[in-house]
Amino acid sequence: MQQSYLKLLDNNKVWVKEKLANNPNYFLKLSQLQAPDYLWIGCSDSRVPANEITGTEPGEVFVHRNIANMVVHTDMNMLSVLDYAVNVLHVKHVIVCGHYGCGGVLAAMGNHQFGLIDNWLRHIKDGYDKHRTELDAITYNTERANRFVEISVMEQVHHLSQTSIIQNSWKNHKRPSIHGWVYDLKTGIIKDLNVLMDGMEDVSGVYKFDDAKS
Ligand code: CO
Repeated sequence: MQQSYLKLLDNNKVWVKEKLANNPNYFLKLSQLQAPDYLWIGCSDSRVPANEITGTEPGEVFVHRNIANMVVHTDMNMLSVLDYAVNVLHVKHVIVCGHYGCGGVLAAMGNHQFGLIDNWLRHIKDGYDKHRTELDAITYNTERANRFVEISVMEQVHHLSQTSIIQNSWKNHKRPSIHGWVYDLKTGIIKDLNVLMDGMEDVSGVYKFDDAKS
């Protein structure tokens, strides 16, 4: 069997050489400080790599990825990343980036079982159900799926705003801004959904905490 993974290690050596040729202190500098301005919450899909599609370098973006870029308020992994990004790294922006043609979103829109992942897809299904009047009115399947990708991203932006981590930071530090984007696999272009949330006025009802903790 060909050891295809070995090419990754070879690629790494080439990459190190290129970086050092441009800047002999590249790794020394990176190893001394991590100060990214952005937290990226994206899909695990191999075609949506945060750094490549945003033209950013190592050190610029703190990244959390899961299937269908979900913000699930009981997900200790996501919460730990969010807490570290907001309270230790002091990121200025949190970006939720979905993508058209997302397998997780498509699976959640259907009625088939896929096994264990059904329990994760359930969170996406809940988003569909919340917006089903709008979504069910779209007859063309691809169009409906694309719209749901956008709606799901907006839902995750709201979920972030409903966390005590974000609300406490808004009250105490007036950051971060939360953005919703969708990446198009067919063109490489990122669409800004213009659903910016950046303060307590963007939170309502029982989700709003009146008592900020510092
Ligand atoms: Co996806």
